[in-house]
Amino acid sequence: METLNGNKIAKLIKEDIKNEVIALKNAGKKTPHLAAILVGADGASMTYVNAKAKDCEEVGFDSTVLRFDASITEEELLAEVEKINQNPDIDGLIVQLPLPKHISEKKVTQTIDYHKDVDGFHPMNVGLMFKGLPAFLPATPYGIIKMFEITGIPLSGKHCVVIGRSDIVGKPMSALMLQKNCTVTVCHSRTEDIKKHTLQADIIIAAVGIPEYLKADMVKEGAIVIDVGITRVDAPENPKGYLLKGDVAYDELAPKCSYITPVPGGVGPMTRVGLLLNTLDAVKRK
Ligand code: GUN
Repeated sequence: METLNGNKIAKLIKEDIKNEVIALKNAGKKTPHLAAILVGADGASMTYVNAKAKDCEEVGFDSTVLRFDASITEEELLAEVEKINQNPDIDGLIVQLPLPKHISEKKVTQTIDYHKDVDGFHPMNVGLMFKGLPAFLPATPYGIIKMFEITGIPLSGKHCVVIGRSDIVGKPMSALMLQKNCTVTVCHSRTEDIKKHTLQADIIIAAVGIPEYLKADMVKEGAIVIDVGITRVDAPENPKGYLLKGDVAYDELAPKCSYITPVPGGVGPMTRVGLLLNTLDAVKRK
């Protein structure tokens, strides 16, 4: 069993990005600049946006965080997105999700200039990705693919079971694994007998959002298990008041796996690197 250390792999990639930023500057190109819009004061969203700004600083990118009160109207928010679309200094824009209920995430996503859509959520990027054309890939699936590539895990011909069909992880992940010549099964909340499928899997990618959902009796010996889940679970004894739990019952599963990602320190850092790679790409494509 080998633990896939996302922190270590992300650090290697960040070193490369840092060097590429220096090379861009030496070639007279601009410094990559990521803008993030945060609406409201959700604890997890604030943590993610702050982490993204810190990542930018680490690799030499410029970053701007625009914070708005949860009472901002949809019209006002769309106008802010338009302003960034028009700003030549900003290369990438992410609008942190979820948004307050009175704002349509679909409208916001579709208003972002797809050339700056480093989250890869715009229908144009989704379409390009599904066709295997150059596109901004959603950060989590992108980071997971990078993790497979850098670790040298062969994917061609393997049976991959993706659990979850979200627009952010499950759907794009299944498309990318298909492009890597995997046979892909997508399971979700309406799937009958998920265990029947996961027991057949060489690779399982769990993106369900239910802490410790995947148990040892659901995987075959030697499987590769990627845990996308990261749920805050109340833990009054912890200084933060919560613990982060993945979708995988790590302790009971790890001995059966050939590779497994921990939570935290697995997929999370790779997601953050996926966003940095997209932002760098936004400048390189200019
Ligand atoms: N909320 C949860 N994941 C994401 C993500 O990847 N991007 C954005 N913008 N919001 C999120």
